[in-house]
Amino acid sequence: MNLFKIESLLRDNIKDLKPYSSARDEFSSGAAGTVFLDANENSLGSVGGGSFNRYPDPRQTKLRAKFAKLRGVKAENVFLGNGSDEAVDLLYRCFCRPGIDRVLTCPPTYGMYAVSAAINDIEVIEIPLDDNFEPQVEAILKSDNPSTKILFLCSPNNPTGSSLNRDDLTLLLDGFSGLVVVDEAYVDFSLKNSSVDLVSKYPSLVVLQTFSKAWGLAGLRLGAAIASSEVIEILDRVKPPYNVNSQTQELVLELIEDYSAVEVMVDELSTLKEELSRALAELSVVSKVFQSDANFLLVRVDDADVLYDELLKENIVVRNRSREPGCENCLRLTVGTASENKKLIETLGRLS
Ligand SMILES: Cc1ncc(COP(=O)(O)O)c(C=O)c1O
Repeated sequence: MNLFKIESLLRDNIKDLKPYSSARDEFSSGAAGTVFLDANENSLGSVGGGSFNRYPDPRQTKLRAKFAKLRGVKAENVFLGNGSDEAVDLLYRCFCRPGIDRVLTCPPTYGMYAVSAAINDIEVIEIPLDDNFEPQVEAILKSDNPSTKILFLCSPNNPTGSSLNRDDLTLLLDGFSGLVVVDEAYVDFSLKNSSVDLVSKYPSLVVLQTFSKAWGLAGLRLGAAIASSEVIEILDRVKPPYNVNSQTQELVLELIEDYSAVEVMVDELSTLKEELSRALAELSVVSKVFQSDANFLLVRVDDADVLYDELLKENIVVRNRSREPGCENCLRLTVGTASENKKLIETLGRLS
């Protein structure tokens, strides 16, 4: 039985917050020919002739509805932000009192949970993943107390590529008193199920997704949080009014119609990943290629620092994760194009 109570998690200043009511919140549309003189926009248009002189829809009404439909939830369960990183920061600002509250992370994992915690002056308790890169459920639940506001999980996890198993997640959702965030930035690459269907059952669950990975839209900056309408209403209260620009909203509204285009890219990247994984495993500098549900591979090598520098000299940039717990001598390699992967393998072969 989950003890989650949103009211006891929420910071008092947010409980009492009267959000800014923007001009486009109050009037976003009108009869044809409505004269908008309410937002101090440039009435003449945009420099260069573009049509960016009007503020974007602060509620992203159309895009939320379409994304919600795609993910099988209601629009009231969707928050859209300037990348999913924005949702991480907002969760801290809404639920964690600086200098008082704590969050739990399970390293090795995505670095922004800790950076955002530091920015917001929140203590991070680290309960590392076990040897199989799975969360230590019992240790996590033992560390739970009223000041532990958020548990960050990442599935598939960056940098390991491993996925959270459903039984562990439900144990954590049943037992943890704060919010449980499951960051699914790489979920479209995975054959395992998303946790979104659990949102209707668990008001403490916040699923993060992004258009930066499988959709290939990192430059547009669009991410989502899918959660109970209570959590979404709180994030909306605190977000900057115009956090998703109009070009992003318009473009993604079109692109979202055709999820099969994402699937085509995911299939191609999956084939490239399998080929890359096999080629890496044959190299003498590589001692292990970890199984990955994402679009990258974690590999253990003889000496990650040396190899990282050598690759850099060849203008190949990878991520050295060897300082992360459980990732000694590990490099994280994003799956590239066929020719990029070939260059990587040839270079590593020469360095063997
Ligand atoms: C696990 C994870 N979450 C979130 C992000 C960033 O997402 P966004 O571009 O939507 O801010 C990344 C980027 O590398 C990531 O690895």
